[in-house]
Amino acid sequence: MANQTWDVDRYQGQHSFVWHYGASLIELLSPQPQERILDLGCGTGQLTQQIAERGAIADGIDADPAMVAQAQQNYPALHFYVADAQQFTVETTYDAVFSNATLHWIAEPAAVIDCVHEALKPGGRFVAEFGGQGNVQTIIAGVEAVLGQSGLNFWYFPSVAAYAALLEAQGFEVTYAALFDRPTPLTDGDRGLANWLKMFGNRFFQHCNEAETEQIIQQVEQLLRPKLYQNKGWIADYRRLRITATKMP
Ligand code: BEZ
Repeated sequence: MANQTWDVDRYQGQHSFVWHYGASLIELLSPQPQERILDLGCGTGQLTQQIAERGAIADGIDADPAMVAQAQQNYPALHFYVADAQQFTVETTYDAVFSNATLHWIAEPAAVIDCVHEALKPGGRFVAEFGGQGNVQTIIAGVEAVLGQSGLNFWYFPSVAAYAALLEAQGFEVTYAALFDRPTPLTDGDRGLANWLKMFGNRFFQHCNEAETEQIIQQVEQLLRPKLYQNKGWIADYRRLRITATKMP
């Protein structure tokens, strides 16, 4: 979300696994008819639509105007807004805030939690999944090894304890929390890791031109092939943090 621009067509196509995996989070959310639910980091709106299909009144927000425009085009009956997760406000509070694969992009988690808290009715629930501690650590280590630098992780991948503490500090009761491995096959066979790095890891290469980026990616592929390439495809070492919390009345 914040500070990241997206190739909307690729997000909906090649990287559609992002929202395909999110469908199981909707089970945890368990949307009820007529509940008001906000999808935080809605991307192109597919999960917002699935929530609406359960009978809830679902709105979506995303920081990227192109994503919001595409979501609105995909699902004209729903409402989507451009908003920064770290400083959004709502006119009418929600029964639940839902967020899939977004919060690791946001530098100030306490600001997000504060906004979510304000956006919820008392007793409202926050249901989120994102990259947790150790997420894509093999990929990050591969890039660091090739670039000869350390500390390049620019995402927010907290532990259960760290994130639960932030939630509790801001008036939530944590009702469920889990950190689990979810090895994730990347689409497009041999090019899977390169595509992923270009789409999601472009900040690693911000000082490189196209040819340099390609060369670095090829070296990363060579280094990581024994660890992450199986049966003609790349498998990213995703670890998910899944959490539900209730706003204390
Ligand atoms: C994730 O969903 O865990 C993720 C996606 C892109 C970059 C980093 C993490």
